[in-house]
Amino acid sequence: MKISGLVAMEVEAARFAQQIAPHQGESAHATVVALQGDLGAGKTTFTQGIARALGVGESVTSPTFVIEKIYELTEQNFTRLIHIDAYRLTDAHELEVLGWHEVVADPLNLIIVEWPEHVAALIPENAIHISFAGTGDSREIIYG
Ligand SMILES: Nc1ncnc2c1ncn2[C@@H]1O[C@H](COP(=O)(O)OP(=O)(O)OP(=O)(O)O)[C@@H](O)[C@H]1O
Ligand SMILES: [Mg+2]
Repeated sequence: MKISGLVAMEVEAARFAQQIAPHQGESAHATVVALQGDLGAGKTTFTQGIARALGVGESVTSPTFVIEKIYELTEQNFTRLIHIDAYRLTDAHELEVLGWHEVVADPLNLIIVEWPEHVAALIPENAIHISFAGTGDSREIIYG
């Protein structure tokens, strides 16, 4: 789908955020959303829209250098939003030492991963995949 401009991006991210819910059942783990796309394709912008829709008040900036940021959520289906930018990682182990297995074990965590292909071995099979493409005044978003 074509998304023109930042307002439309925020609206689409909010729509997406409202229709995801934690996995249930005994073996349930975190909901992982893998955002693929080139530099500047809109992955962080989309994540900011999700964060806003889930009531995150503080500004959500790209975790390019810190790799991972954690936002506590209140009165939402999820209790935590975890935003990971794997761009600078070259090995899945680098994310494991940041506590990946602990955060993915909690079904109430919503984990958004930019550059999932850099940590492909850690992305669960039931992750939600979204692709972003384009530059300039609009972006193409593809679910699945
Ligand atoms: N739908 C859109 N329409 C117009 N501009 C957009 C749209 N989405 C994002 N942008 C703009 O594109 C630029 C890059 O977006 P963003 O930082 O979200 O990309 P990214 O995919 O996270 O890149 P990186 O891989 O470097 O982290 C920003 O200036 C943002 O405002
Ligand atoms: Mg980004």
